[in-house]
Amino acid sequence: MPATQPNERDERFMARAIELARRATGRTRPNPLVGCVIVRDGEIVGRGFHARAGDAHGEVAAIEDADGDLEGCELFVNHEPCCHYGRTPPCTDAILDTGIERVVVGTIDPDPRVRGKGIETLRAAGIEVVCGVLEEESRRLNAPFFKYIRHRLPWVAAKWAMSLDGKIATHAGDSRWITGETARRRVHRLRDHHDAILVGTGTLLADDPRLTCRLDDGRDPVRFVVDAALQAPADHRVFQHDSDAPTVVLASEEADHSRRDRFAGADVDVVTVAADDNGWLNPRGILEAISERELLSVLVEGGGTLLGSLFDAELVDYVYGFVAPRLIGGADAPTPFDGHGIDSMNMSRRLTDPVVEQLGDDVLIHGPVGELPTAPDPEEV
Ligand SMILES: NC(=O)c1ccc[n+]([C@@H]2O[C@H](COP(=O)([O-])OP(=O)(O)OC[C@H]3O[C@@H](n4cnc5c(N)ncnc54)[C@H](OP(=O)(O)O)[C@@H]3O)[C@@H](O)[C@H]2O)c1
Ligand SMILES: [Zn+2]
Repeated sequence: MPATQPNERDERFMARAIELARRATGRTRPNPLVGCVIVRDGEIVGRGFHARAGDAHGEVAAIEDADGDLEGCELFVNHEPCCHYGRTPPCTDAILDTGIERVVVGTIDPDPRVRGKGIETLRAAGIEVVCGVLEEESRRLNAPFFKYIRHRLPWVAAKWAMSLDGKIATHAGDSRWITGETARRRVHRLRDHHDAILVGTGTLLADDPRLTCRLDDGRDPVRFVVDAALQAPADHRVFQHDSDAPTVVLASEEADHSRRDRFAGADVDVVTVAADDNGWLNPRGILEAISERELLSVLVEGGGTLLGSLFDAELVDYVYGFVAPRLIGGADAPTPFDGHGIDSMNMSRRLTDPVVEQLGDDVLIHGPVGELPTAPDPEEV
């Protein structure tokens, strides 16, 4: 008889579900990452994950994979099973059809159409449901989804590459390349894993970046560039057709909008964002323009001015800081965050449980800054 309370065994199977879910990172928006395993007599007999919006949900993928009679089995899933018709029928129906008798869930789905109702539906049908197993890991996995549902803002990851003395370019503006090959490949994986990418005007003009993912198995994020005055030359690479992903130019109302004509025929949209008193685009407005397209996460690749204004507005959720064993010097050489910054050390932001990766001679330090978005309390639903 399967156990009623969460235990080490439940956590082990949940960890497998989370591992499966992670395989679709960057592919499921606006849906969460969901992985699932089905267990009979302590052995996994079915595995599945939600590969992309419109495809089978993790639970259904695992049921299809299991093949055969699932009467009396257990099902482990990191996210509450849905109970509504979306692009696909409710997973609760699919589970009830199998005769599965115990369901273990990581987090409650904060989506108001579900929010505990999936669990209620299963319990009402006599299935034993345990909720909150590896809750924090499940929430961390889907932090962009939780933030999007709660705040209608994308999860903001800041990325930069700096020399050991903390510079992101020379005083003359040269920044290619600070880190080595391995670190730069890692950046392409980050692009692959985020729904959107964003750079400021200075970076757009200085570096003429493509902002694409150059990995064989990668896909491009939707490319956002701040160009408040619509001044960037139309032959810049981000405006060219070397990507399946569109480019979105964020401009102010005051820009000369007749200049949009330059993009005729290209996959380029121009979106107006309100400007603040200093004439810069409102940082929250920039993020809202991203989430309006159902993009759950954005990788901000600089420069220091844009990152500084996001940091000052406390809008950065996660950082990826690459550090190269190289010295640049120069009081005028740019650093990762400009803006106002903070006054005293006790106001400095710390990464929670930072991860350190060695990438060739370079190092990557990454982790969340501030709180993870909350999930509904399993006790309250
Ligand atoms: N090593 C690295 O990882 C890395 C990464 C990126 C960039 N870089 C280097 O950084 C340099 C560019 O950085 P940067 O700081 O000059 O420029 P930036 O941050 O790319 O762009 C800043 C400009 O964007 C416009 N803007 C509009 N709204 C804004 C807002 N809310 N917040 C901030 N800016 C806003 C302003 O231009 P207007 O006043 O014209 O409106 C502002 O001057 C380049 O040398 C580049 O090579 C290095
Ligand atoms: Zn579902």
